[in-house]
Amino acid sequence: MRHIKFIVPALVLLLVLSAFVWQRPKQIQYNPDPIEKRVDSLLALMTLEEKIGQMTLYTTDWGSTGPTIREGYTEDIRKGRCGALFNSHTVQFTRELQRIAVEETRLKIPLMFGYDVIHGYKTIFPIPLGEAASWDMEAIEKSARIAAAEAAAAGLHWTFAPMVDVSRDPRWGRVMEGAGEDTWLGCRIAEARVRGFQGKGIGNTDAVLACVKHFAAYGAPIGGREYNTVDMSERYFREYYLPPYAAAVKAGAATVMTSFNDYDGVPASGNRYLLTDILRKELGFRGFVVTDYTSMNEMVTHGVVVNEKEAGELSLHAGVDMDMQGAIYQRFLGQSVKDGKASVAEIDESVRRILRLKFALGLFENPYKFCDEAREKRVVFSAENRDAARDVARKSVVLLKNDKNALPLAKSANIAVIGPLADNKADLIGNWSGAGDGNACVSLLEGIKKVCLGEVTFTEGCEVEGTTRGGFLRAIENAKKADVIVVAIGEKAMMSGEAAARAEIGLPGVQEEMVKGLAALGKPVVVVLMNGRPLAIPDLDKRATAIVEAWWLGTETGNALADILFGDYNPSGKLPMTFPQSVGQVPIFYNEKNTGRPFDPNSKWTGKYIDMPNAPLYPFGYGLSYTTFEYSDPKPNKTAFKKGEPIRISVTVRNSGKRAGEEVAQLYVRDLVGSVTRPVRELKGFRKIMLNPGEAKTVEFILNDEDLSFYRRDMSFGSEPGDFEIMVGGNSMDTKKVRVTVL
Ligand code: GLC
Repeated sequence: MRHIKFIVPALVLLLVLSAFVWQRPKQIQYNPDPIEKRVDSLLALMTLEEKIGQMTLYTTDWGSTGPTIREGYTEDIRKGRCGALFNSHTVQFTRELQRIAVEETRLKIPLMFGYDVIHGYKTIFPIPLGEAASWDMEAIEKSARIAAAEAAAAGLHWTFAPMVDVSRDPRWGRVMEGAGEDTWLGCRIAEARVRGFQGKGIGNTDAVLACVKHFAAYGAPIGGREYNTVDMSERYFREYYLPPYAAAVKAGAATVMTSFNDYDGVPASGNRYLLTDILRKELGFRGFVVTDYTSMNEMVTHGVVVNEKEAGELSLHAGVDMDMQGAIYQRFLGQSVKDGKASVAEIDESVRRILRLKFALGLFENPYKFCDEAREKRVVFSAENRDAARDVARKSVVLLKNDKNALPLAKSANIAVIGPLADNKADLIGNWSGAGDGNACVSLLEGIKKVCLGEVTFTEGCEVEGTTRGGFLRAIENAKKADVIVVAIGEKAMMSGEAAARAEIGLPGVQEEMVKGLAALGKPVVVVLMNGRPLAIPDLDKRATAIVEAWWLGTETGNALADILFGDYNPSGKLPMTFPQSVGQVPIFYNEKNTGRPFDPNSKWTGKYIDMPNAPLYPFGYGLSYTTFEYSDPKPNKTAFKKGEPIRISVTVRNSGKRAGEEVAQLYVRDLVGSVTRPVRELKGFRKIMLNPGEAKTVEFILNDEDLSFYRRDMSFGSEPGDFEIMVGGNSMDTKKVRVTVL
């Protein structure tokens, strides 16, 4: 009995400790070690053809995301000629295909099913550029988490996301798919998305393999033209484009997809420096690499190989494990081995990487593990998921202008809703919208009608594209009878995304002209912009009373926008990408360098245009609120620091307005003198804080040595002593600063 007094407390302590252990950070890496023996024993049974089959990925005819479609994939499965399929989803379809693999092939190796679940499977969330505008990592992770749960419930094992390509060029259509222009924000968002997709770990039936794409630097095509050449120094690449891929790999991403472009003259799908030296040796990536859609075949067109067989050999030696849709490995790798141009050892290594993940998914124990109709019915497009989509959508909206406090609208107002995107549903899910159904969306008009107690009229007024002006008159007539005009204009969903670069990035058609006519009535004109890229809209900015950037918000568009327009949610979004005054300023980005002749209005001989200001229309990090915020001067814990010593910066943010609201306080750093030229500011931290009217909060940022580090003149990565400016504010241009010294 004497011991009892020790045993009980010990047990309690054990329980408490186990709770902490159990709650340890999400395990998002898979540990292949226990699987190794099973992989090796299976590999030993496989013929060369069966091995090459595992390295082959084909699309079904359920979707077309590239230039070729494939028939006869069931025969490919039956003959062991492919180990994975994409554009294949729903429990019913994947079960049917899986049955062929596990019942009709010699070794019964289960298939892996992939799909482009980029911003939702069935419940569609804002396009990734829109989500990035939320600066809310929890919201972004939750969005990916729900997308993964729905995808996994629909029989999928693998999503071709996150796309983490940094881009400083809004002409490029795929900016809609990424996290915008900034490297540091791009890293945080890449991590959040990988965590969301892979959840508590690979093998859970609410998680899917992430696929970091497109490796690498695909977001920097010359001229912003899709699929164009990428040409940049290694320093530029490592400083601005590489980090988000590295962050995603570090976060445990299971797979990587190559990009279409060349890097340093070698197409990524055959670039050993990228795929082996950097990705595997430097970053320690242990998953598998898949090409993009026939990107291996396109190396012939690039002109770096004579034929497709050579392309396969170049890709295998570079480190490509799986050939998407090109059927090169399938058709030529066996011959390459016979010719001594490829080794079985290389092939075995690729097959191991693929089989490890199939084992990690649990597909050998139960190939139908992800084929549960009841779960599919319960999880996919649930009310709970749609509520979450509405919340993420609200957080993604950026208030760009709000003169005379035109917003929020009174619910009693008589509103003339005008524009081609007001009653539109199909476009609201944007591009890369998976199995989303536009018709299931809540339109802006529906959202307004649900909340507004006044009279709501609607007329389209004009189309997104085209020169038809016949609807202008009706629009003007409706507007005359209303207290306020809400105009929904922008792009078509397919005007951004893949193969959708635009040389002009203004409003298409006669939309701007229509707004000009409406603005002449002298009533408040609230513009709701729906678009997949930053637009050059200086005239619209002059004419509109208020502008709300709504991107493509997905299934719950109308409800989320009504929450914003009528003030049930105070907008808190901040731009993840600069909006230029003109496409002529592109590439334009916040973290530019000083140059030797920075702009000086009093001197002719300085960096400028003679026909346009340098300044953007709206800068990176910009976004308004229905309230206002004031910043104190940033205060460092001291002014001189030893190298590597953390720099603590505190700043007090006060809500100086009359409504509660969230502010994204941003921290920027400038290294005043470096062994190479350094940007005039770089984002190195932010805090999204909720403040009630009059409330003030002091937030502390901690800068560590890595935050001050860069690729120095000798290309070593590290910080250098010297003076630094630390800036804090509500956007990249409007900041307060303090200087500190690193000794
Ligand atoms: C496309 C895209 C890529 C996508 C793949 C499969 O060409 O570049 O992002 O994942 O094909 O659909």
